[in-house]
Amino acid sequence: MTKTDIVGLKGSRSFPIGQEDVEKVDLKYNVRHFKEAPLSKSAQDVDLIDLDTIDLSLFKDGPENLSARKELAAKVEKSLSTYGFIALENHGISIEEFDHLRSIAQSTCELPEEIQKKHLAGAMKSDLEDRSKSLGGERGAGFKPRKYWSMKNGVEDSIVLYNFREMQQPKFFDTDHNNYPELVLHHLPEIATYFRKLHNEVLRKLTILCDIVLELPKGFLWENYFKVVEDDYVNSGHGFGRFMFYDELNKEDEKKVDKNWLRGHSDSTGFTFITSQPILSLQIRDYFTGKWKYVGHKPGGLIVNIGDSMEFITGGYFKSSIHRVVSPPEDQRGYRRLVLIYFCNPKYPAVLDPEPLNSPKLQRLGIGKPGEWDKITFKEWDEEKGRLFGKKAVNDSPGDEPNLVLLYGRLHERWHQAESKFNLEEARKRFNIIEI
Ligand SMILES: [Fe+2]
Repeated sequence: MTKTDIVGLKGSRSFPIGQEDVEKVDLKYNVRHFKEAPLSKSAQDVDLIDLDTIDLSLFKDGPENLSARKELAAKVEKSLSTYGFIALENHGISIEEFDHLRSIAQSTCELPEEIQKKHLAGAMKSDLEDRSKSLGGERGAGFKPRKYWSMKNGVEDSIVLYNFREMQQPKFFDTDHNNYPELVLHHLPEIATYFRKLHNEVLRKLTILCDIVLELPKGFLWENYFKVVEDDYVNSGHGFGRFMFYDELNKEDEKKVDKNWLRGHSDSTGFTFITSQPILSLQIRDYFTGKWKYVGHKPGGLIVNIGDSMEFITGGYFKSSIHRVVSPPEDQRGYRRLVLIYFCNPKYPAVLDPEPLNSPKLQRLGIGKPGEWDKITFKEWDEEKGRLFGKKAVNDSPGDEPNLVLLYGRLHERWHQAESKFNLEEARKRFNIIEI
């Protein structure tokens, strides 16, 4: 019997489940290759954003490699200050690792509802959630079952997701503390390894490129916002992982939600990492035109987007863009969309405004903390915003946009950030804003 070493923990610890047991469990839950959709023929005809791609193999530490890092940083700046999205290649995660995790994710999300109910992240419906008691189906560890979110015109979602929390910390392996389904439990080492690589290797490099953009000392963002300190839950960067599995909505429901499988929204994260996939469904609301554009596929690539936290930390210079998921073209019908997501967050007490950065770049651009913003921490923003998504009062609106909500002097999603004259006063004139 072989045992797997747990990556990223101090000391040598082994995961106490042997390979033979893992194979038995895989057979029991029909763990198999996830079949991706073929590329759509209509990819040439739709409006695609060709995201800039960073080749992370060109990133090397050391002063002798500064000019190479500066070249990468220039691309990062162009993308993150406009679309808020960028693609990464040669990031150190192999196609085999992605395939392996996708096969586990597929079988996890296919677990029957009676098993899902034993491992719920929150309530069965968003509107029934008592968020004073839990993080809810949105953010908590475990399943968000299908039909949890209320969309519009009485339609409910067709997405199953399973969330992981604290993958960066030893507690992730504590089975007294966590209630994992049998299948997930047997694959904790690979799941932890994936998310730890994303955090400690890929994210660290990306934050160093952002330091260059913002003219901060090397490692400033990493050390002050994202670094993980073992067993220190206050002073550590965080993140939560997700297996997310989209099934088609039926035709009637699809009409009622204008083909939106997941409505336009911004993430509250620092950075979000998703696996690129061939199914043509992810759209970004174009920074320059406000029109929806598809994100093309980068085989083996990661797509990264800025979330609210990095937008606020940079005083709005980096854009937490609105994105959504729509039904794919006809030739990809019948295929499911499976995404591995890492929502990467700064430490809970991190202040979400640009003052702590003292960035010469932002100062030169005249970017500071807007007067109407309350001083808030990541924890405050994340908790309040987490309460809103999937709520009928927010989502049941006539057009693309949800009803806007004002939290701590900031709109919960900035749908009009590209309009030069758009401000809070203007928003109040044009929209019915829910004030909390
Ligand atoms: Fe998102």
